[in-house]
Amino acid sequence: MKICMIGTGYVGLVSGVCFSDLGNKVICVDKNVAKIANLKKGIIPIYEPGLEELVIKNHKNKSLEFSTNLKESVRKSDIIFICVGTPTKKNSSAADLSQVYNVAKLIRSSILRFKIIVTKSTVPVTTGDDIEKILSKTKSKKLFSVVSNPEFLREGEAIRDFTFPDRIVIGTNDNKSNVILKNLYSPLISKGAKYINTSRRAAELIKYASNAFLATKITFINEIANLCEKINVNVEDISIGMGLDERIGGRFLRAGPAFGGSCFPKDTKAITTTADKFKIDLSVIKSVIKSNNNRSSLLLNRVSKILKNKIKNKNILFLGVTFKANTDDMRDSSSLIMIPSLVKKGANITYYDPSGEKKNFKRFKNVKFLKDINFAIKNSDLVIIHTEWNDFKSINFKSLIKKRKFIIYDMRNIYSPQKMKKDNVKYYSVGV
Ligand SMILES: NC(=O)c1ccc[n+]([C@@H]2O[C@H](COP(=O)([O-])OP(=O)(O)OC[C@H]3O[C@@H](n4cnc5c(N)ncnc54)[C@H](O)[C@@H]3O)[C@@H](O)[C@H]2O)c1
Repeated sequence: MKICMIGTGYVGLVSGVCFSDLGNKVICVDKNVAKIANLKKGIIPIYEPGLEELVIKNHKNKSLEFSTNLKESVRKSDIIFICVGTPTKKNSSAADLSQVYNVAKLIRSSILRFKIIVTKSTVPVTTGDDIEKILSKTKSKKLFSVVSNPEFLREGEAIRDFTFPDRIVIGTNDNKSNVILKNLYSPLISKGAKYINTSRRAAELIKYASNAFLATKITFINEIANLCEKINVNVEDISIGMGLDERIGGRFLRAGPAFGGSCFPKDTKAITTTADKFKIDLSVIKSVIKSNNNRSSLLLNRVSKILKNKIKNKNILFLGVTFKANTDDMRDSSSLIMIPSLVKKGANITYYDPSGEKKNFKRFKNVKFLKDINFAIKNSDLVIIHTEWNDFKSINFKSLIKKRKFIIYDMRNIYSPQKMKKDNVKYYSVGV
């Protein structure tokens, strides 16, 4: 099939590459000229394991093209996926849909024969109705069908998630589009992915409800961890004991820093705002947002306690600053709150992240990126394990730091408190 992905970011690039690898002709379009020029040269704009090889392979065999010419790319294609950003609006909690509506207006003039317009961007329920209205201003409804196909991939595991999804959700009442899309996804369905055809509005809501539920799970266990810290119980035991109940499940039930990233914070805000518009109070999700907003200051209070309120001039190392492992995405990472707050209190911050230096911290004089993890550890008073990269899972802290006094605050509960105690290392973790 001939496919056009509009927006070549985390979602558009990964799904475009994967569709091309399944034998389709794909054009990935972006308005960012430098991004497209780099992709043509095999330079990948994001850190995503396995992506570079797939891009180079499919670009070389001409099943994957890159373009900045949206109109021509749409004209050449049968299925158009909208994969542009839907961030939170400035001074509001609602989703900013301007990029999506802008794309709808731009593609309208290129619809000269039947096209399926699919939103892969996460959009509030009823956005598909609005896109349809925009297109039908100048085009007959016989020439297009607007479908919702929310994307569930996780950064860091994106290729695996796209290729082996739990489910593929297609929101449309149009039988012709449903048959075509089921055919497009048939290689994944034959490998075991469940295919669900539902209404467009239901598909839009499935995405938000899923993200809000996962964010709730994380926040729930984070609050239980707060209780554990007061009663000498290890939250890891609670996660295991709860997670073994199949009705609950162990995933997303690990205590740690506030949830961040490009999806959960903005999507929880957007779904509550959409519901407010319909005069429905999603109070559970609203308290999740509130609790998560307080999370970083709770962890910072613990840092103060650990350092006996003496933060000034302390050398604090962050291991990992991204919101999760295996991505370079800094959007809404809790390190963006914690690092500036510690700098304000006079700490000297160094950080090491396998995905490289971050422009977010360039404005701080007292924040330095170190390329050598061993050197970074050797020179710190407090090591904060902020992100769960594999690189941090088997560090021999004791042999690195030798006799000097140092403390570890493991925000991801990677290490065993018992083992650390045996090794005489001052070690703190979350929910213990
Ligand atoms: N990142 C994730 O893990 C993830 C997972 C599932 C769903 N989503 C959703 O997918 C959508 C995209 O997210 P993302 O993380 O890929 O965003 P992104 O910011 O990485 O990429 C969006 C891209 O769209 C491009 N763009 C914007 N307007 C354009 C236009 N008019 N023409 C061409 N290109 C244009 C931008 O230049 C950018 O490269 C969002 O709605 C998000 O909520 C994201």
